[in-house]
Amino acid sequence: MKRVTVPSVRARKGGEPLVVLTAYTVRHAQLLDPHCDMLLVGDSLGQVIYGLPSTVPVSLEMMCAHGAAVVRGSYHALVIVDMPFGSYEASPEQAFASAARVLKETGAAAVKMEGGEAMAPTVRFLTERGIPVMGHVGLTPQAVNLLGGYGARGRDAAEAEKLVRDAAAIAEAGAFSLVIEGVVEPIAVEMSRAAACPTIGIGASAACDGQVLVTEDMVGMFERVPRFVKRFGEVGQAIGAAAEHYARDVRARAFPTPEQTYQPK
Ligand code: KIV
Ligand code: NA
Repeated sequence: MKRVTVPSVRARKGGEPLVVLTAYTVRHAQLLDPHCDMLLVGDSLGQVIYGLPSTVPVSLEMMCAHGAAVVRGSYHALVIVDMPFGSYEASPEQAFASAARVLKETGAAAVKMEGGEAMAPTVRFLTERGIPVMGHVGLTPQAVNLLGGYGARGRDAAEAEKLVRDAAAIAEAGAFSLVIEGVVEPIAVEMSRAAACPTIGIGASAACDGQVLVTEDMVGMFERVPRFVKRFGEVGQAIGAAAEHYARDVRARAFPTPEQTYQPK
């Protein structure tokens, strides 16, 4: 099976919705790959895998290690790796060096970076030099210290106008797709219209050209999830129940049995 390509994603504007999930590990990648157009190695791994308080402390080394695992576990989906905070914002040159390292070390096809109009020159710089970029506008979690939280964006008129300009600018700069996160519906609709490339929504309504969720959220491995998450599974409960059963069997000496025990020939 041939991998999904950047041009084929770009061509999906206004077409069949793009299916995207996050993946951080080889096993998750194997399970999700047949069902997804793209797998995103999100810097949300900071909270989800490492228990960090935000995505701010995530390093390029962490993204490279998990990106390589997801590429090894997938054959079909286009793999995109998040650029972590501090690895790309200072200049287009810094962004190129970091993104090139990510592509070389992981085998992924593209990177994602947060930011609106101010990041447009960087998106153009990378795209013109052969690195496909997925943009990320609206609620940008790496800016949590500036925003003061993770509330939905676009509730006041001045901010809404800025969000639409951000979406248009990142698409115009050459992004092949654009994540819109945590934006009230009417503004998400306008942003999706303003962006020439496919938009991938998370908490940004059905108006986008595709959807993304954090896999652990949608399979029920996190207790508290935001309003925009639908729980499509109860994997957390299944793991807890398996651990409980195992503990009971070990304590009762009901595991292991002769079936799980080696004997001399
Ligand atoms: O890090 C992440 O998982 C993301 C998605 C939620 C878009 O950026
Ligand atoms: Na992210």
